[in-house]
Amino acid sequence: MKTLILNGSPRRSGDTAALLARLRRGLRGEVTEISAYYGGIAPCVDCRECWKRRGCVTDDAMRGVYADDYSAVVIASPVYMSGLTGPLINLGSRFQAYYAARRFLRDPFVPREKTGVLILAAGGDGSPGAAIDTAKCMFRYMNASLDSANTVLSLRTDTLPAERDENALAAIDAVAARLSANALTRDKPLFPPA
Ligand SMILES: Cc1cc2nc3c(=O)[nH]c(=O)nc-3n(C[C@H](O)[C@H](O)[C@H](O)COP(=O)(O)O)c2cc1C
Repeated sequence: MKTLILNGSPRRSGDTAALLARLRRGLRGEVTEISAYYGGIAPCVDCRECWKRRGCVTDDAMRGVYADDYSAVVIASPVYMSGLTGPLINLGSRFQAYYAARRFLRDPFVPREKTGVLILAAGGDGSPGAAIDTAKCMFRYMNASLDSANTVLSLRTDTLPAERDENALAAIDAVAARLSANALTRDKPLFPPA
């Protein structure tokens, strides 16, 4: 089993980092983490080369995402302006290569089915709706299912740092146990055939 973590926080020892440390503690198998801030992934610039041939011409750390050799993908991020952080959305913009292949090349370039996990930390107004919607969009491109049990929110980090949020930590432990049992949870296909 391999798990890919997409980390959208700029804080190396912040709330997201605390939740991810807890997840890693319980995870079996190989774990790879890519930082949206420090991982060297460029945003999509709409060059449209992916309209002509499969894949993305920008050769950078996004390789590790396109490799599609993981059975679970974790999106972990602080909530900024009710959404995901900018660099994480930049990373997500690179999924345009999947869309373009299907739309313009009639190429069924669909990643393999995998389990999605969403971890959000927020310390203010507690309205993560836009972050959840954008994460769901990213999961859809990655052909990852997301069910509510695999969605962990720590929404009051201003008064309760995530490392002390026992509810969130217990939910993370449960996610780690399920991933380690290698269960692919899927309610319905999120990425139906073209
Ligand atoms: C630029 C910025 C925007 C933020 N916007 C929100 C927000 O819209 N809603 C919210 O609840 N918290 C917001 N926060 C607070 C962070 O989500 C919170 O501090 C979080 O726990 C930080 O996680 P991290 O330590 O993993 O980076 C914002 C923080 C920053 C720096």
